[in-house]
Amino acid sequence: MSEAKRLAGEKAIDYIEDGMIVGVGTGSTVAYFIEALGRHKERIKGAVSSSEQSTARLQALGIEVLDLNATGPLSLYVDGADECDPLKRLIKGGGAALTREKIIAEASAKFVCIVDPAKRVDVLGKFPLPVEVVPMARSLVAREILAMTRGQPVWRQDANGAGVVTDNGNLILDIHGLAIIDPVAMESAINQIPGVVSVGLFARRPADIVIVGGEPPIVL
Ligand code: A5P
Repeated sequence: MSEAKRLAGEKAIDYIEDGMIVGVGTGSTVAYFIEALGRHKERIKGAVSSSEQSTARLQALGIEVLDLNATGPLSLYVDGADECDPLKRLIKGGGAALTREKIIAEASAKFVCIVDPAKRVDVLGKFPLPVEVVPMARSLVAREILAMTRGQPVWRQDANGAGVVTDNGNLILDIHGLAIIDPVAMESAINQIPGVVSVGLFARRPADIVIVGGEPPIVL
C-alpha cells in the first residue's frame, strides 16, 4: 500500500502554486507529500502544520512552519484519511491529529485528500471513529456516545496501556461498530456533547478533491 500512498502524495504537488502557504496534514500518506514538497520548497512561502510529527518532518526539510493565526485563511490543505465515501466525506484521526486537521481544513479554500484505494468505502464507520475528549469527560462522553449511536467507545491506549495523549493534551475515544448513514447529523450530534473537543468525521466540510494513489492516480 505504501506505493499507492507515495503516488497519491506526489500527485498532490500538482496543486501547489508559487508563493503559497500550504496546510499540511498528518500520517504516512502525508509523509510522502512532505517529502515531495521538500523538492519544491523554493516555490512556497511555508506551511501550516497539523501535528508535532508533521512539523518535525517539514522543518527537517528546511520548510518554514507558520502559525495559522498569523497566516490567515489558506488556499490549500493536503491531508490523508482513514475512510472516504463517494461524497468525499471522511473519517480521520487514526493518527490522533484530528482537531488540528479539522481547524486547518476549515481555514482552507481547497482540501485535497490523498488516499490509497483501501480507504474508499460506500458507508463510513468500519474504521473506528476517533473522538478527542477533555480527560475529565472521558467516561461521560463514552456513555453518551454509547446511548446515542449504539457504537462501542474504546479508550485509545498505547502498547504499554497508557492513554494516548494528543498534541493538545487530550484523550481519544475510538467508536467501533458504526455504519454512519447520516455523517453530517452524527458529526453535529457528537460535537454537542460537553467534553468533546472534536470528532473525526469530516462531513460538514468534506474534501474538495480526492486523489486515489495508483498507476496512474485517480482524481475524484
Ligand atoms: C491523522 O490523525 C489522520 O487523520 C490521518 O490523516 C489518517 O489517519 C491517514 O493516515 P495514513 O495516511 O497514515 O493512512
